[in-house]
Amino acid sequence: MSVNGILICPVCRGALIRKEKSYFCNGAKKHCFDISSSGHTNLYPGRVSGGDDKKAVKSRTDFLNLGFYLPLAQKLCDILGDLSTGQSVIDAGCGEGYYSNMIAKNIGASVFGFDLSKEAIISASRSAKRQGISNANFFVGGIYDLPVKEDSADAVVNIFAPCAEKEFSRILKRGGRLVVVTAGKNHLLGLKRAVYETVYTNEARADMPENMKLIESFNLSYNIEIEGADSIRNLFSMTPYSYRTSERDMQKLMALEHLETEIEFDIFVYAKEDEI
Ligand SMILES: C[S@@+](CC[C@H](N)C(=O)[O-])C[C@H]1O[C@@H](n2cnc3c(N)ncnc32)[C@H](O)[C@@H]1O
Repeated sequence: MSVNGILICPVCRGALIRKEKSYFCNGAKKHCFDISSSGHTNLYPGRVSGGDDKKAVKSRTDFLNLGFYLPLAQKLCDILGDLSTGQSVIDAGCGEGYYSNMIAKNIGASVFGFDLSKEAIISASRSAKRQGISNANFFVGGIYDLPVKEDSADAVVNIFAPCAEKEFSRILKRGGRLVVVTAGKNHLLGLKRAVYETVYTNEARADMPENMKLIESFNLSYNIEIEGADSIRNLFSMTPYSYRTSERDMQKLMALEHLETEIEFDIFVYAKEDEI
């Protein structure tokens, strides 16, 4: 699937066609969206608010580049492995494109990453360029209203980002798959033990698909050891705890130089509800 044929204009919903360094829609007003020098395009209608800031993006990039979550990237490539050139994967809430680029590199399909965070999308595009990946495209866009044609995507991946079931179902082809990754029960338990006096396991997410059909699920768990205060802080800043930790507990985090922790991902594969 080339970029032509899947994207629609965020303003008038006409088809978006790439011509050199811009996308033009085929609507009456011929809306135009330029491709930036980093390779990304802003397809968000209006002023963007929300999404991760530069600091959060840098922390996550630095942590992911250490390879601790590589088993998850590999598992996603296995799940999507039968998609090939001419097919499409939407990464909804792709962040800095760690998984999008890994998927693009390992399977032939075209990957379209969307995120509200311009900083994350710039970082994703630059990373694709650096790695010589030409089948990943990145866009500033909201996942509840994706500029993607209905029934056009072969797969949607949604990794640690809000899950927009209705929208994902709209854009998926019949036979397409939605892959949702969430934190498993014991994910980062060791990190929590090191910082908090009372520790709770993770609960199931409240925004999981309700009307799509769950066809497969996987649990991926292993332990990691992290050396160095910066890497531990980067991991912590990727979690929701970073917004709600007391000063006293933050001091415990700051003092950590070595951490052993559980990693646990739950991976759910869904089909469109009218399919089965
Ligand atoms: C925890 S990060 C996960 C990023 C990436 N999937 C990963 O696992 O590395 C969640 C991402 O969702 C994005 N996000 C949150 N709400 C969004 C929305 N409504 N539309 C698009 N992106 C959104 C954030 O900007 C952030 O990059």
